[in-house]
Amino acid sequence: MPNQLKVIIDTDPGVDDAIAILMALAWPGVEVLGLTTVGGNVPLARTTRNALALLEYAGRTDIPVASGSARPISSSFGYAYAVHGVSGLTRRLPRPKTTPVDTNAVDFLAARLRGLPGQITLIALGPLTNLAWLTLHHPGVLEQTAHLVVMGGAVNTPGNVTPYAEFNFYSDPEAAAMVLSSGVPVTLVDLAVCRRVGIDRQGAEGLATRTRLGRLAAQLLANWFRRDPQRQQFEFYDPLALAVALEPSLASTYQAAIRVEVTDPDRRGESLVTGLGGPVEVAQQVDKQRFFDLMERTLGFVV
Ligand code: RIB
Ligand code: CA
Repeated sequence: MPNQLKVIIDTDPGVDDAIAILMALAWPGVEVLGLTTVGGNVPLARTTRNALALLEYAGRTDIPVASGSARPISSSFGYAYAVHGVSGLTRRLPRPKTTPVDTNAVDFLAARLRGLPGQITLIALGPLTNLAWLTLHHPGVLEQTAHLVVMGGAVNTPGNVTPYAEFNFYSDPEAAAMVLSSGVPVTLVDLAVCRRVGIDRQGAEGLATRTRLGRLAAQLLANWFRRDPQRQQFEFYDPLALAVALEPSLASTYQAAIRVEVTDPDRRGESLVTGLGGPVEVAQQVDKQRFFDLMERTLGFVV
């Protein structure tokens, strides 16, 4: 559709991925061209099933899902069952009737980016394995993105898997290193800025919403807290990355060169600033109220 912001979301749903996807589907003026899935929070078969199920729930089976990498560039995914549950979602959705397209995620991304050069915003919400393979199998194609936004990294802040590493970068540090050193401009939405936007148990349980998509998002959130009485705060990692991609003025940024640690076993996945002025645009401050206003506008949330 003309004048719509065209996006592809690479994702490992996952509760916060699911909320981000629901926001994108409800975002005025945005055309979701497809979802590409990757293992990460849960195995690939599950992230793909969850992506299909979310689109069916939303009545958007017109949007293709392309299944991608079941394992990282090296070793294997550690999965985050303790955070997202075995299924990856905190509300059961019917088994999807639809299936992924025959094309794998990497070739799907290559075809779409070649077909619409400089017109697609690519939003990566999981391990960067699919994007890394894209740079290897289809050199020069990642450069065709209009805007590449990545949720990942822990820049000058503790990690959420180890004291140094954030989950997406820890899950596939080689892929993160390849993408961030590719020279392709990346907007990085890391843990430091994501920790500024969260919701507590009371807020989640008191969430009201006016929309069907918002109802699912609210249920995912409320159930996430119900799964563990010790849980205090849900951080909107992927929803913030999506919001920054669709409304860049939401966050202030600075340019940096980022190195991802791949050799030191204790610090694998660590994201280090090696210099300022590099190709990575690091989100720094976020307008928290505007973010929640955007959640209200898309999901009908009344926080
Ligand atoms: O560290 C947070 C990231 O890891 C989010 O994308 C979450 O979904 C998990 O994939
Ligand atoms: Ca994710």
